[in-house]
Parts: sequence; C-alpha cells; structure tokens
Amino acid sequence: MAKFRRTLLVATAVAAVASAQQQQQPPEDTTQQPEGLHALMLSAGKLYFGTATDVGNHNDEKYQAILAHQGEFGIITPENSQKWEVTEPRRNQFVYTTADTVAEKAQDNGHLLRCHTLTWHSQLPPFVSSGSWNASDLTDILTTHITNVMTHFKGRCYAWDVVNEALEEDGTYRESVFYEVLGDKYIPLSFKIAAQADPEAKLYYNDFNLETSPKKADGAERIVKLVRDAGERIDGVGFQGHLIVGQTPSRRALAALLSRFARLGVEVAWTELDIAHDFSSAASNGSSAANATQLEQQAADYVSVVGACLDEPRCVGVTVWQFTDKYSWVPLAFPGRGEPCLWTATYTKKPAYDAVSKLLREAAANKTGVSTSSAPTLPTPSSISGAAAALSRGGSGGALLSPLLGVVGGLMAMFVL
Ligand SMILES: *[C@@H]1O[C@H](CO)[C@@H](O)[C@H](O)[C@H]1NC(C)=O
Ligand SMILES: *[C@@H]1O[C@H](CO)[C@@H](O)[C@H](O)[C@H]1NC(C)=O
Ligand SMILES: *[C@@H]1O[C@H](CO)[C@@H](O)[C@H](O)[C@H]1NC(C)=O
Ligand SMILES: *[C@@H]1O[C@H](CO)[C@@H](O)[C@H](O)[C@H]1NC(C)=O
Repeated sequence: MAKFRRTLLVATAVAAVASAQQQQQPPEDTTQQPEGLHALMLSAGKLYFGTATDVGNHNDEKYQAILAHQGEFGIITPENSQKWEVTEPRRNQFVYTTADTVAEKAQDNGHLLRCHTLTWHSQLPPFVSSGSWNASDLTDILTTHITNVMTHFKGRCYAWDVVNEALEEDGTYRESVFYEVLGDKYIPLSFKIAAQADPEAKLYYNDFNLETSPKKADGAERIVKLVRDAGERIDGVGFQGHLIVGQTPSRRALAALLSRFARLGVEVAWTELDIAHDFSSAASNGSSAANATQLEQQAADYVSVVGACLDEPRCVGVTVWQFTDKYSWVPLAFPGRGEPCLWTATYTKKPAYDAVSKLLREAAANKTGVSTSSAPTLPTPSSISGAAAALSRGGSGGALLSPLLGVVGGLMAMFVL
C-alpha cells in the first residue's frame, strides 16, 4: 500500500502544485485557471476524476498529452487489459504484459489505478466459459485467478471491481458459468478470495443500468446484503453510467440512487461514465453528428451525473469510459449511437466538458465559501484540506477513506514545509 500512497501523494501534489503556481499569476490572467477535472474534483471534496485507457492509446501523442495533463485525471482504469481473457488466457498461464504497460504509464503520469475486473461472464477465456465444471473445480479456478491477479497488482489498486454485471435487467441473477455451477454463492466467494488477496484494495460490485432499471438496482442491493450476510467484505458499488443523451435521469433521481446504496454502508462511484447520442432516433433524421442542441443536452446530462456524486458524501469520484469519442466503445457495441465522451474525436473539449468543469468550480467555491461569480477559484492547499475534512465528516465512510485522508494530511504537511 505504501506504493499506492506515494502515487496518490504525487497525483495530489501535482494538482496542488499546479494550482499553487497559478495562484502566483496576475489576477487579470484568466486563461490559466486551475486546469483539470481531477484538480477541480479534489477541491470539490472528492477523491478523483478518472478515465479508462489502454495500451492501444499509447502511441497517440495528442491523446497522451491530455491524459498526462496535470490535474485532468487522477486515476485510470485499464479498459481491457486486466480482464480474464487477457490475464489468464489458458488455465494457470498468467500474462501481465499489457496490464503492466498500462500500470507503468499510470505511474509515470502520477495516476492511481482503479482495477477492473475479476469475476465477470464476458471476455472470459474459453477454458472457463466452455468447461463443464463441478463446484469444487470452479471454486479452484476462481480462487487461483483472483488470488494471482490481485497479488500481482497488490498495492497499486485503489479499488477492484471484484464481481461485474451479475444481474439481468429484471434483477435476477445472470445465467453465467459461475451462477450455473455455484449458484449465488460465487458472489460472496469472489469477495472472500479478493479480501484475502489484497486486504487494502476497496472491493466493489459493478454494474450498468442500475440508473434506469429499478429492479436491477434492487438486485444490486440484494448483492450487497448477500455478501455481508456471508460475513465477507464489500466496500463499494460502482455505477457504470453508460447513459443516453436526453434519457439520463435527473440529478435528484441519481443522487437518491447513490444515497440508497450509501445508506447500506458502502461507498459509491460512477465507474464507466459515457453519455451517447442516439442517432438512430427519428429526430436525428439520418445525421450521425451531434448538433448544438444535442451537445447542450449532453452537457446537462453530464452535469446531472457528476452533480449526483457531489450531492452524496459517500460518492468518491467519477471515471469516464475513455475521454475522447475517437476511442469510445459505444459506436462499435451499439451501432447508431455515438459521440458519448467529453472530448471530440479530434480532441476539442465539448460543451459537456465545460459544463462539468463549471459545476466543479462552483462546488469547490461552495466548500471554501469563495464566490465564483467573477473568477473561478483555484484548488489550493487549503481547499484540499477542506475537502479532506468534509470527507472525514461523511459518516462511517470516513473510516474507509482514512488511509487516503492520511495522505492528504501528509500533503498539507508538505505545503507547510
Ligand atoms: C470434480 O471434478 C473433478 C474432475 O474435473 C474430479 O476430480 C473431482 O473429484 C470432482 N469433485 C467432486 C466434489 O465431485
Ligand atoms: C438538433 O437535432 C435534434 C434531434 O435530431 C433536432 O430535434 C433539433 O431540431 C436540432 N437542432 C438544431 C439547432 O439543429
Ligand atoms: C431530414 O433530412 C432530409 C434530407 O437531408 C431533409 O431534406 C429534411 O428537411 C430533414 N428533415 C428535418 C425535419 O430536418
Ligand atoms: C452552491 O451553493 C448554492 C447555494 O447553496 C447552490 O444553489 C448550488 O447548487 C451549489 N452549487 C454546487 C455546484 O454545489
């Protein structure tokens, strides 16, 4: 964990140093306001703003310039390279080349890792999905996989998505190889193995459409209780947030959803946020590029989602599933949908980026009591301190966050020096 703490320290310090430098600039210079969603997220009292990324993006210089930009992102999720088909393609053969490359890039950039994912029905190697296992065999396979992968990345993951997408839309369990052989017991079993493999990583259940399907949200609540009732540790629920422009629930509804889970005693986060235009709708009239109206609606929807995280003290942060349309999975997975990210395919910031940025500046100003009516405030060491204090007031979740708060405290000490 020491390594992980150092990484956070670097990431936080980079953002704070950047803002401290900006503070020394003449007040009339408004072009050098605090840059970056992560820096703003910290000053708004949250732990991070992050993005999914992977080795396929490593040779794109424009992309890398934004990814490495000071304060834009504080944490990354490997989009594919930690999935089972990549890390254990054949039984007991573990391959970490790609995931290690992503982890090293993250370290170079001062980014933490949000690690993804362990027990999931999809992107499974054939040896798992097409085997005819008995319970004892599949338990061995799960134990070996989770233990090996988590041990390899131990100390580098802020959190792991331990079980991913175990639910159908109606809230019943998905018919995966895991469910067929082990029943719902595979869920607490996965958390049990994970807790033993890395006692310090936050252990998450992660799923999509919890935002729009009440029965699926009921199912996720059932999973939290199932794991707890089995005596195992679950620290968080990840809301993927793969949403559609104009069909995104309101900030109030989303905040209520997050709060419902926070009341169960887990932390929550947006883990895979993207908000796609539905170009197949009749209204789009055959166009496959968003017009100004659609871009404004997308901005409003992003504000609802990020705002809901601001509204729930136990929401720790937001991760977008790629930051540029150039590399979004959406048009490939859902033909007719597209342009879901904060940056265009040619790396222009969209209205959604500006709206999220403005929201976070306002939230930061509210925390520090400084008006933003004229110039936005900068994330300063004192606002980071305020954020830490606010987080530690966020109920018993403060206990979960205490290692991180210790680091923020350490950062304060650095600034005093
Ligand atoms: C499970 O299957 C394996 C062969 O794959 C066998 O050796 C083992 O005895 C079986 N265990 C049980 C409990 O049936
Ligand atoms: C943008 O597209 C939407 C949906 O296709 C349409 O309803 C709207 O009139 C368009 N607005 C502008 C300003 O072109
Ligand atoms: C839809 O597209 C067609 C062909 O581009 C155009 O002639 C028509 O005016 C469009 N309709 C609307 C409602 O924008
Ligand atoms: C800031 O505080 C004002 C007044 O309480 C409130 O209306 C506004 O929604 C807050 N903004 C954010 C981003 O939290």
